[in-house]
Amino acid sequence: MDLPSTMTAIEILRPGGPEVLVPATRPLPQAGPGEVLVRVAAAGINRPDVLQRMGGYAPPPGASDIPGLEVAGEVVATGPGVSWPSVGDFVMALVAGGGYAEYCAAPAAQCLPVPARLGAVEAAGIPETFFTVWTNVFDRAALKPGEAFLVHGGASGIGTTAIQLARRHGARVFATAGTPGKCAACEALGAEKAIDYRACDFVRELKDATQGSRIDVILDMVGGDYTARNIALLREEGRLVQIAFLKGHKAELDLNALMRKRLVVTGSTLRPQSVAAKGRIAASLRETVLPWLEDGSVRPVIHETYPLARAADAHAALEADRHVGKIVLEIPDLTR
Ligand SMILES: NC(=O)c1ccc[n+]([C@@H]2O[C@H](COP(=O)([O-])OP(=O)(O)OC[C@H]3O[C@@H](n4cnc5c(N)ncnc54)[C@H](OP(=O)(O)O)[C@@H]3O)[C@@H](O)[C@H]2O)c1
Repeated sequence: MDLPSTMTAIEILRPGGPEVLVPATRPLPQAGPGEVLVRVAAAGINRPDVLQRMGGYAPPPGASDIPGLEVAGEVVATGPGVSWPSVGDFVMALVAGGGYAEYCAAPAAQCLPVPARLGAVEAAGIPETFFTVWTNVFDRAALKPGEAFLVHGGASGIGTTAIQLARRHGARVFATAGTPGKCAACEALGAEKAIDYRACDFVRELKDATQGSRIDVILDMVGGDYTARNIALLREEGRLVQIAFLKGHKAELDLNALMRKRLVVTGSTLRPQSVAAKGRIAASLRETVLPWLEDGSVRPVIHETYPLARAADAHAALEADRHVGKIVLEIPDLTR
């Protein structure tokens, strides 16, 4: 296949607001050993991209400085040692950077086939949140069918994924969100009850909703003063998984409650993990979650799309916090 030598990509000019995201011409990335080159049809936006743009979340060593953690598109070249996918396959891929571009190199182990019912925009909105939710809620916290699960930020990209995967797994699902409309969206996705945290105390509401039996697993992106409240809300053998700290990374922990209830407090970040570790998560998703995407029982929630060149507007929209689900960049001629 004849490929161009350069491409359009979105650069971060300097740390700052959305306006520092500008289109630029860059050399085409190469597919290295174990990698494929994807002609990007759509690229998902995630909150960590905003942190990177502001100068607070540097790419791990060896990763592209172009933002973007997930893409969907056609494989146009393969590097040495790749047995799947092949040139011509349509894939969705988790990447450590480089997604906001016309071409992106991705480790083959981090690619997944795109179910026929999904278009490129939906596929591009899957990898980052599905890998994150899987590894934290199912691997680390080992959520079991029938257990009570709470996700804070239920209307976020992460939240809309967590609600659906936990529900499909057979858990009782609860969520918090910042407006009545977002709460209604969480309930439409499968939450038994979503609590508007600006209007009510989620601890009291969830003690009532579970008839005092409380919550087994909490996925939290808020931190700060939520930590003490999360600990109060967990039942015996409960698990708290921290994936971000929108209200601060310092928190008070009641060690007496931790010991008395035999709690586990854990957390992780996806991006710096090895290709082998991400490949293991991909294998679990392929086995368990891909069939749910294929039969339509789980679906990515797409709020809005923007053309690649308008990445700055897309970031401004994400930071306005009015979205439910994902905001995705697209290259319109290539979206299927
Ligand atoms: N550890 C990891 O590997 C990993 C991977 C991916 C993402 N993350 C983190 O997960 C979080 C969600 O990511 P995303 O891309 O899904 O984000 P997103 O769609 O932009 O959603 C973030 C949500 O957080 C809520 N929020 C904002 N400030 C808040 C505050 N002070 N208190 C409570 N809620 C607040 C907002 O909803 P409301 O209007 O309901 O408040 C907003 O919709 C981010 O913090 C991100 O950094 C972590």
